[in-house]
Amino acid sequence: MSIAEASPKNPIVILDMGSQYAHLIVRKVRECQVLGVLLPFDISARELLKLQPKGIILSGGPASVCAKGSPTCDPKVFQLGIPVLGICYGFQLMAQTLGGKVERAKKREYGATTLYVDDASNILSGLDERETVWMSHGDTVSALPPNFAPVAHTENSQYAAAGDPARNLFGIQFHPEVVHTPRGIEVFRNFLYKICKAEPNWKLTNFVEQKTQEIRDQLGNDKIVCALSGGVDSSVTAVLVHRAVGDNLTCIFVDHGLLRKDEPEQVDRIFREKLGISLIHVDARDRFLKKLEGVSDPEKKRRILGREFIRVFEEEARKLGDVHWLAQGTLYPDVIESADTTGPASRIKTHHNVAGLPKRMRLKLVEPLRLLYKDEVRQIGRLLGLPEEIVTRHPFPGPGLAVRIIGKVTQEKLTICREASAIVEDELRTSGLYDVVWQAFAVVGDDMWVGVKGDERSLGHVVTIRIVQSVDAMTADWFSVPQDVVARMSNRITNEVPDVAMVTLAVSSKPPSTIEPC
Ligand code: XMP
Repeated sequence: MSIAEASPKNPIVILDMGSQYAHLIVRKVRECQVLGVLLPFDISARELLKLQPKGIILSGGPASVCAKGSPTCDPKVFQLGIPVLGICYGFQLMAQTLGGKVERAKKREYGATTLYVDDASNILSGLDERETVWMSHGDTVSALPPNFAPVAHTENSQYAAAGDPARNLFGIQFHPEVVHTPRGIEVFRNFLYKICKAEPNWKLTNFVEQKTQEIRDQLGNDKIVCALSGGVDSSVTAVLVHRAVGDNLTCIFVDHGLLRKDEPEQVDRIFREKLGISLIHVDARDRFLKKLEGVSDPEKKRRILGREFIRVFEEEARKLGDVHWLAQGTLYPDVIESADTTGPASRIKTHHNVAGLPKRMRLKLVEPLRLLYKDEVRQIGRLLGLPEEIVTRHPFPGPGLAVRIIGKVTQEKLTICREASAIVEDELRTSGLYDVVWQAFAVVGDDMWVGVKGDERSLGHVVTIRIVQSVDAMTADWFSVPQDVVARMSNRITNEVPDVAMVTLAVSSKPPSTIEPC
């Protein structure tokens, strides 16, 4: 099934022209309570029509419409009678396709810019005569297509916004989706409610009801298993599926010995005791650690863990007998990424997940979160009564602490990594910063430092604290932790964790570094 066929009907379709902001546009549309879906730029108008979109948004993109081979949409998209909004590159593409002119701008316009609104009757309705907007373009629309009228200008762009209200075609040169355009959300509201006549009916409470019913209908009385990791995605999936089919769901939680401090106990306490979900807790710590013995190559660690995970899971699931379904917490960005809509995204690290399971075990997949972003999943978690400690928990890689331990995984390094990470998390919570950052943990390798305890000098490990801020983990900034907080982390790690003689702080962003050390 193509990604378009799998999309719900009547959405706002965002055509991805390669912009790093394409997902942000989808999220802004959803913030207006209208369902937005991201589709490849070259989808045919015929395919699009099958979805009966309420409106179409052409995203920005890094290419130039003047260059050969730059992304173009099916020109019939503008003849469907469906409202279209072109943003930046999308505006230029619309202008060029419909008979206007695009050229290299004399001066590249970048950053916060004053927008002069010439016509506040349509797409910029409600905005002031002067607004601050974010610009980032080298090309400019120099002549409008027939029937288009100017809507706004800036010092450098004669047509910073333009449109043909009779056909509901609009284009804007600035980026309403970024925070640097303070009233950008109003531009979206104008397009969605006034121009597309969309209803604000994308509500997560409705989503939960619909999904529950859908899963119930799909499964009937069949049994289903879920690989529960304790993270937000698999937890919300489990609770949602449990709401639909009750005891026909069994969760399998594999403790591979590389989890965060107290995580196995937390999973038992919450799922088995609090939520009454049937849970098989597999203590496979020795088995995994044996397999990892002597292995220091991170990719090899990932492969071993992935393979072993599948084996353990399979053994447990077979014991349950007649199971045909597997519930998985796949999220929207993964769906888009694996549909490869935006060109060849090179994978820097092989991500360990349970991807091999369904095929091997001939299980059919239930992925109730396929349409959702992480923040939406968190909201659903809350709606379903999952405690905050799970809902707000930082993302954690499938191979767990194995990718936070540089070199061979030993019991000593594992204890250091786990205990030091718990201190980092604990201090962030105490200082109210835990929810501000994306991930925070400690890393340990084989570098040593001479420590002084009392009168004794002895070699101890170097522990590195890594704290980053990010939206989607594709890029990340190192987080500038207040000095008193780092000082407390450092003191506690050297005092409370045995065999640590030095604490360092990782101060590289992504790129050039990745978030995890290996
Ligand atoms: P990197 O280290 O590539 O990580 O900047 C980006 C995000 O992905 C997580 N990560 C993984 N998740 N299996 C996973 O399930 C993996 O092998 C893996 N490696 C990294 C990482 O924690 C970060 O959020």
